[in-house]
Amino acid sequence: MNDIYPFEILEFNNVKHREQVVALWKDTFGYDSARNDPEFVIDQKIAMLDGLFFVAAHKEGIVGTVMAGYDGHRGWIYALAVHPGHRKKGIASLLLSHAERRLASLGCAKINLQILRGNADVQRFYRVNGYTLEDRISMGKQIDENVSNTD
Ligand SMILES: CC(C)(COP(=O)(O)OP(=O)(O)OC[C@H]1O[C@@H](n2cnc3c(N)ncnc32)[C@H](O)[C@@H]1OP(=O)(O)O)[C@@H](O)C(=O)NCCC(=O)NCCS
Repeated sequence: MNDIYPFEILEFNNVKHREQVVALWKDTFGYDSARNDPEFVIDQKIAMLDGLFFVAAHKEGIVGTVMAGYDGHRGWIYALAVHPGHRKKGIASLLLSHAERRLASLGCAKINLQILRGNADVQRFYRVNGYTLEDRISMGKQIDENVSNTD
């Protein structure tokens, strides 16, 4: 529990947290691709059974999320989001450091993440939290057979 602004970081619980996380992600990210549909993302993540999906719980409910992944080579951070009414209180920084510690405990030596180009505030947030811009181009490929409709 954080003393200044009371919330706690919990592992995601599909029964207790799912509905609120779906609502938060729809408001925050508003992705329209099927592969980023919150229900699909949650189902895929919990099927991994990796314990790398966390929420920030406030007395008003779930106010933040972060997902991490580790493949034995790199750690990844995804879906860091804080409810607009609860931002600038350190919630995302604590969610991020929680995920980082869990990745470190698995032996992870490097964490990567992607942000949309032009999102200067988010870049600054990650810089303050120790991340640096790297000279890379991000590429991706959708696996159509695992996505209900392509886009
Ligand atoms: C990016 C995001 C997750 C940050 O969440 P947050 O909880 O507001 O982040 P924090 O409070 O930890 O830090 C944000 C800022 O508040 C400041 N801050 C932290 N605690 C504070 C406090 N108690 N009082 C005032 N400011 C505070 C931090 O210094 C930081 O400042 P900076 O951005 O100027 O460096 C949030 O804005 C968000 O959900 N954005 C939309 C989704 C998104 O873009 N996610 C990233 C996708 S990869």
